[in-house]
Amino acid sequence: MTNSYIKQDILIKAENVSLSYGEKTILRDINFEIKDIIRPGITQGQVVSLIGRSGIGKTQLFKILAGLNNPSSGKITLHSGKPVKPGDMGVVFQNYYLFEWRTIYQSLELAAKKNPNFKGHDIKKEINKYAEQFQLSEHLSKYPQQLSGGQKQRVSIIQQLLNGSSFILFDEPFSGLDVLVLEKITNLILQVSLSDEFKTLIIVSHDIETAVSLSDTVFVLGKEGNKEGATIKKEIDLCSRGLAWNEDVRFIPAFKETIAEIKSVL
Ligand SMILES: Nc1ncnc2c1ncn2[C@@H]1O[C@H](COP(=O)(O)OP(=O)(O)O)[C@@H](O)[C@H]1O
Ligand SMILES: [Mg+2]
Repeated sequence: MTNSYIKQDILIKAENVSLSYGEKTILRDINFEIKDIIRPGITQGQVVSLIGRSGIGKTQLFKILAGLNNPSSGKITLHSGKPVKPGDMGVVFQNYYLFEWRTIYQSLELAAKKNPNFKGHDIKKEINKYAEQFQLSEHLSKYPQQLSGGQKQRVSIIQQLLNGSSFILFDEPFSGLDVLVLEKITNLILQVSLSDEFKTLIIVSHDIETAVSLSDTVFVLGKEGNKEGATIKKEIDLCSRGLAWNEDVRFIPAFKETIAEIKSVL
């Protein structure tokens, strides 16, 4: 099966990003480019995964990518050439931080009000639409402590969709979910990527299989020999391997080979 596509403009660029705490180097010389993928006749955003072992520095890189932490050296720039700043990217943290004293509806309303594309009267409709799609309709009047982890995660995702972020960063979106919820969240992330040509989803994860099954491009974060600090050891273009945009990707032999290849460099 051939899927025609072009990788075009650079949307996000990491240049020589390093991070140290005192004498300890966490990230070293990280360089990568996330490009806009165009598929003729198909509305399709980008899904990129950063894969690495636990403790390697994924959350640190996540915060730098989101503009929430500064690297010790190097920079992250956007398509405009400007450095990323807080608010440029929607972030879905691992602990799904929500305001405890606001109902789910109030949290979502606050997010939607930040979106200049929504006029006042549209907001309720938009919230109800997403709540239905993400199976949260009956939970809108509840408070976060009344929701399960999986439900809070879905609320966090809707928040980012409502506020209109073109880039959404996810930190370990698959951890701590049971199999059925994992399947749901995987499908939702795919739906989101298909919702808008300009949406770019960046997933930081140690779950190799799930990340590969969702992505069009994978960056593997690991250590090189005895050098201190993690760097990008490999970039894998899943489109060219026929592993992108395919629901049954897990059954393709190249999928297993790719997983083994990633494990060998982790
Ligand atoms: N404020 C800090 N000072 C020193 N070391 C830190 C600090 N925050 C995180 N680290 C270290 O950075 C490393 C990477 O952490 P993290 O990015 O959370 O890993 P991952 O998300 O891949 O599991 C860990 O060794 C951790 O101990
Ligand atoms: Mg982490």
